[in-house]
Amino acid sequence: MKAIVYHQYGSPDVLKLEEVEKPTPKDNEVLVKIRAVSINGSDWEGLRGKPLYARLGGLRKPSNKILGSDIAGRVEIAGKNVREFQTGDEVFGEMPEYRGGFAEYACVPETALIRKPASLTFEEAAAIPQGAVIALQGIRDQGQVQPGQKVLINGAGGSAGTFAVQLAKYYGADVTGVDNTFKLDFLRSLGADHVIDYTREDFAKSGKQYDLVLDVIAHRSVFSYARALKPNGSCFFVGGSVATLFQILLLGPWIRRATGKNLRLLVVQRNQKDLAFMTELCVTGKIVPAIDRRYPLSEVQDALRYVGQGRAKGKVVITVEQNNKK
Ligand SMILES: NC(=O)c1ccc[n+]([C@@H]2O[C@H](COP(=O)([O-])OP(=O)(O)OC[C@H]3O[C@@H](n4cnc5c(N)ncnc54)[C@H](OP(=O)(O)O)[C@@H]3O)[C@@H](O)[C@H]2O)c1
Repeated sequence: MKAIVYHQYGSPDVLKLEEVEKPTPKDNEVLVKIRAVSINGSDWEGLRGKPLYARLGGLRKPSNKILGSDIAGRVEIAGKNVREFQTGDEVFGEMPEYRGGFAEYACVPETALIRKPASLTFEEAAAIPQGAVIALQGIRDQGQVQPGQKVLINGAGGSAGTFAVQLAKYYGADVTGVDNTFKLDFLRSLGADHVIDYTREDFAKSGKQYDLVLDVIAHRSVFSYARALKPNGSCFFVGGSVATLFQILLLGPWIRRATGKNLRLLVVQRNQKDLAFMTELCVTGKIVPAIDRRYPLSEVQDALRYVGQGRAKGKVVITVEQNNKK
C-alpha cells in the first residue's frame, strides 16, 4: 500500500510517499481502508520530534514511521474476536499512539473506533476524534463549565481549540479565544465572545481573570497562569513546553494548597462514549468540525507545511482516495 513515511525527525521535507507492506489485523483489530485522515498538533510535534515528549516512541529517530492519528474509512477485514464491526462498515476514530493514519490502510483496535453517521462525510468524521475528545474532557469533565463562567482557550484556532470554543459556548460560557492575528475572525465565527492576538498581547498580563483556562500550547510560568485565574479557578494543560508542563506537575499541588487555584495537566482518556457524544453534537449541528483545507495523500508534506506555518484555521484533512482510487 502507499503511505507517507519518515525515517528521521525534521521539517515536512523528510516525509516521503513510499510503498509499504499492507498491515494484517490482529484478532481484536479491524483493517480499515482509509478515506480521510485529519492533522492534529500531535502530527506536527511527532514530525519535528519537539517538544521532547514527542520522542517517546523513539529518542533519535521515529520507531513508528507513519504519522496520522484521526482516521475515517471502511472496514475491509475484521479480526476474529471483533464483535462490533464487520466488512463494509464505515468507521472512524483515533489511532493508538497517534500513528499509522497517513496511509491507504491501517489496523485499529475495535475499541478505538465508532460507526460513522451517514450524515457526516469521511472528511468531517476524520476531523473529530482527538481534538473533540480533548475539548470534551477539558471543558465538560475537568472544567465543569457552568453558564456565565469566563473561559479562555489558548491555542483556540487549532484542532482541540476549535472544538473547545464551540463546546464552552454550548455550555453557556463567556468565551475568549487566543490565537494568531490571522485566525481571530475565524474564532469569532465559531462563537468566541472575545479574541486575543497572542502575537500582540499576553492574556496572562492583562489583569483579567477567568474561571477556566484550557491551554493546548502552554509555555508560560505556572505563576502567570495562577494570576490569570479567579479564586477557585482552574487551568488545564493539554500540551506545550516541557518546562511549563514540569512546573505544573511540581508546583501545581503547592499552588492549589496555597491559593485554591487548580492547575493540572489534562491527560486525555480516549473512549468511544466521549467520541460518540461529540459526534452527536456535530450531527445535530450544535458544533461543526471546522475544516479549512483538504489535500490528497501525496501532498501531506504541503498539508503539514501549511499547518506548521500557522495558517490552518481549524482542521486540515487528507483525503486518501482522491489520489489513490482502487
Ligand atoms: N494531554 C493529552 O492527553 C493530549 C492528547 C492528545 C494531544 N495532546 C496535545 O495537544 C496539543 C495540541 O493540540 P492541537 O491538535 O489542538 O494543536 P494545533 O491544532 O496545532 O493547535 C494549536 C493552536 O495554537 C496556536 N498557537 C501557537 N502558538 C501559540 C501561542 N503562543 N499562544 C496561543 N496560541 C498559539 C496555533 O497557532 P499557530 O498556527 O499560530 O501556530 C494553533 O492554532 C499537542 O501538544 C498535543 O501533544 C495532548
